[in-house]
Amino acid sequence: MTETELAYAKVNISLDIVSKMADGYHYMKMVMQTVSLADEVTVECVPGEGISVESGLPFLPRDKRNIAAKAAIAFFKNQGITGYKTKINIKKNIPVCAGLGGGSVDGACVLRILNKMFGAKLEVKELEEIGLEIGSDVPFCIEGGTKFVEGRGEILTNLMPMPKCHIVICKPPINCSTPVLFNRIKCDKIRSRPDTAGIIVALEQGDLGGVARRMYNVFEDVLTKESRAVMDIKNRMQDKAALGTVMTGSGPSVIGIFDDEADALCAFEHLRKRYKECYLTQTTERLEYS
Ligand code: C5P
Repeated sequence: MTETELAYAKVNISLDIVSKMADGYHYMKMVMQTVSLADEVTVECVPGEGISVESGLPFLPRDKRNIAAKAAIAFFKNQGITGYKTKINIKKNIPVCAGLGGGSVDGACVLRILNKMFGAKLEVKELEEIGLEIGSDVPFCIEGGTKFVEGRGEILTNLMPMPKCHIVICKPPINCSTPVLFNRIKCDKIRSRPDTAGIIVALEQGDLGGVARRMYNVFEDVLTKESRAVMDIKNRMQDKAALGTVMTGSGPSVIGIFDDEADALCAFEHLRKRYKECYLTQTTERLEYS
């Protein structure tokens, strides 16, 4: 049995950190969105045993340390399925360690594929619960679309879809470690926060400018040496008529929202001269489950 599906990248329209919880994780409030930049995930299951992941990227693990493999193992355990050799092939288009949920979207995609392939008929909520075992962003990535995400990442509320727009994504050639950034955050000392409630109202009103103006990510506050490249990209996007810009996830990628396709293309072409990893995308809708 073989199935292929697209795994759409996620971006943060906002990211706020409310508190540190007893288990060490942080209580988050985020507006998240999927975009058209996607990996292509193929899962093949034949009688036998073992699990392998091929991505063409030598630095990504090929065994059960890979989040896509973890997703398959969690699904089989949940369903009590044994006796299959599973090969996962990922055509990676989403840059890794970029704040775009690259691993999480692949893991969520494997769960969707296996649910279909084995006729398990698990509800979205059940897939989200399995997803949370393998990563905080995985539950959102099961359905994607436009959602308000709270808690560790498991409290999900569908929002009005983002008005039609163009999203330019640019990843500077630097690394931001997620645990290091979380460690730098002192919840009671955060100076600026996104207007999350205002973003949700603007979405309800179909007011793209209102959404874009209110975007913010509290990790932007605690950038040190990474700040220069992030600010440079934000400035360049704003010079090219972005309605708003924000760093996504724990970075370092920055997104710019454009209502005009020609402006988005112009920003993309301009950024591409300086930064290798640039993408011109559109929002994608929540996946429909039958
Ligand atoms: O859940 P995930 O493996 O994606 O999280 C990676 C790291 O990010 C965690 O080990 C933790 O340090 C941090 N994290 C957190 N609070 C969250 C999500 C992630 O502190 N809500």
